[in-house]
Amino acid sequence: MDRIEVFPTAAALYHSAAEHWVRLAKAAIRRAGAFHVALAGGNTPKGLYQLLANAPYVSQVDWSGVYIYFGDERYVPMDHPESNYRMARAALLDVVPIPSEQIFRIPTELANPEAAAANYAQALQSHLPGGSQLDLILLGVGADGHTASLFPHTSILSVRDHLVAAVYVEKLDAWRISMTYPAIEQARQILFLVSGADKASIVASLLAAPEGEGKTLPAQGLQASGEVNWFLDKAAAYEWETKK
Ligand code: 6PG
Repeated sequence: MDRIEVFPTAAALYHSAAEHWVRLAKAAIRRAGAFHVALAGGNTPKGLYQLLANAPYVSQVDWSGVYIYFGDERYVPMDHPESNYRMARAALLDVVPIPSEQIFRIPTELANPEAAAANYAQALQSHLPGGSQLDLILLGVGADGHTASLFPHTSILSVRDHLVAAVYVEKLDAWRISMTYPAIEQARQILFLVSGADKASIVASLLAAPEGEGKTLPAQGLQASGEVNWFLDKAAAYEWETKK
């Protein structure tokens, strides 16, 4: 069963998410000597990354034990304004002392998206515990119910035999590389971060569907093996709360 928490503001959501990250990182490093976490892209998680890079949280994490991955990436150069890696570097990775060899970005410089996906799947298999298990994956949701780059009506939704795949998103006229359902589902914990009134409608659709029935949106298609937490701010939860 997913655990849903609603926070009064986006700032409160980010502070709770930072505390959550600190707790999970401490537990993973204590348990296994490492914390393997996949970052979400887009705008929402930026506030969390910036908090983690500053007091009080920055000193609460043993960054030497943190291993960074990406749930998805746009097929653009790593210094492109649309790059999730570029966003994460500016907000967090260039600020905290994570050894560079512990940051696994999706290699969008490779000749084509499929090569980048195959290369990244290999990196996950080489570095993740058991070849596939993240301790935490951060996810956002789009207004169409996508998460990572699992967009509605795209080929990647049916990929079950690879951890990473390339996907052409027609409505964006863009290629993406994304972790697939199997990669996301194996995480010990999934944390959705959703903020803002523009997500109120999709949140209500995603969370209102009774267990098992009518789960047609990509973000509903996850058969997670671990914990699933939703951190919502009041604006994003508004329609769901009024419908409950
Ligand atoms: C991406 C993300 C994507 C994102 C949602 C929400 O690369 O854009 O992986 O799944 O989480 O589109 O984006 P916002 O946080 O910008 O609303």
